[in-house]
Amino acid sequence: MRTQVAIIGAGPSGLLLSQLLHLEGIDCVVLERRSASHVRARVRAGVLEQGLTDMLARAGLGGRLKAEGLPHDGFTIAVGETRLRIDLKTLTGGKAVTVYGQTEVTKDLMAAHEARDARVIYEAEDVALHDFETDRPKVTFQKDGLSHQIECDFICGCDGYHGVSRASVPRGAITEYEKVYPFGWLGILAHVPPVDHELIYANHGNGFALASMRSHTLSRYYIQVPNGTLAEAWPDDAIWRELKIRLGPEAAARMETGPSIEKSIAPLRSFVAEPLRFGRLMLAGDAAHIVPPTGAKGLNLAASDIHYLSEALIAHYREHSATALDTYSPRALARIWKAERFSWWMTMLLHQFPDLGPFNAKMQQAELDYLSGSLAAQTMLAENYVGLPY
Ligand code: FAD
Ligand code: DHB
Repeated sequence: MRTQVAIIGAGPSGLLLSQLLHLEGIDCVVLERRSASHVRARVRAGVLEQGLTDMLARAGLGGRLKAEGLPHDGFTIAVGETRLRIDLKTLTGGKAVTVYGQTEVTKDLMAAHEARDARVIYEAEDVALHDFETDRPKVTFQKDGLSHQIECDFICGCDGYHGVSRASVPRGAITEYEKVYPFGWLGILAHVPPVDHELIYANHGNGFALASMRSHTLSRYYIQVPNGTLAEAWPDDAIWRELKIRLGPEAAARMETGPSIEKSIAPLRSFVAEPLRFGRLMLAGDAAHIVPPTGAKGLNLAASDIHYLSEALIAHYREHSATALDTYSPRALARIWKAERFSWWMTMLLHQFPDLGPFNAKMQQAELDYLSGSLAAQTMLAENYVGLPY
């Protein structure tokens, strides 16, 4: 099999890249380890920056997003009894975010691929990358017990944190930066109306909590739990009880509860691999970096990588430019590190840390006080939350 760009992973990064390249007449094959139904069902992020919604519209996928996405022009930070509304729209000169689940983004991308009968190969096993330091890279894989080989111009590693692409780079060629937090987020999805029309991020003595949503009838909630916690250890009743405590009495009085339809724990980690290009292999999205979810940046950062990567590949093919791809890694990393900083800062601001110590506890308190009293501090938060420009 031959293609121009072999894309590893059919998450949002891989499918968005494939769609944008297809619109420019660049041929791609996407290889995905899991089944289509598994990919479609994964519940993950929920807040989209304007940059991502613009890209989806450009890829011809703006219809359902426009009809069903919920524009949010603010959110609340709750600390004990106090409430601070971050007025995104006023603070950023008119910008906002859209609440639209990653599940829906994935469904829209998969439908677009199905409609044009694109080559997306699900349940591809033992994917292996070869010769990407040469001009003739190859990818091999197994499907239905048969061995296959794809010859290509480029390989794009969009296969997430545990994927094969980053692991294929020689150790000496890549530098990894990492911070692991001593807690995770236990998330539930439930068919109940959201507790508020906007998101509430809460810093409480028992730990962080977040009230989010997917629609007017579907709610997404998270609570901070120590590492090592099993989701089964938290029956629904206990989660609702804890949410009411952490989000405060006002939210508790309004909160509608019901059985969870999904429950899972995501560990919190900051991670960046540098650089993003190794000859004819480029890494993008979670394959290259992870942010803790507190600033809602994971999916959005994957999208900005794809913006830079698709631009570089399109310039390479259109202008036969040998240097277009050199821009990808430095341009993407400049934005990645700023999103890492913001996600780390918001995580430090809103969680309970078991070993914080009295000085750092005071620093967290001072940071919250400063934020509530300073328009400059709120503007910094709002500017990053709606997304830095591409
Ligand atoms: P992924 O979505 O991970 O997609 C990678 C794809 O590659 C997967 O389909 C995988 O099956 C495939 N793959 C892996 N290995 C191979 C292989 N060897 N061969 C072929 N295919 C392979 N972000 C937020 O902003 N807010 C959230 O609330 C949030 N919650 C999250 C919860 C969880 C459990 C996780 C894991 C992530 C969460 N994120 C969240 C982050 C966000 O979902 C990711 O940043 C986003 O999915 C990145 O997209 P991606 O396409 O780069 O990677
Ligand atoms: C959601 C996840 C986040 O990480 C966040 O900051 C806001 C919302 C969500 O899943 O709805």
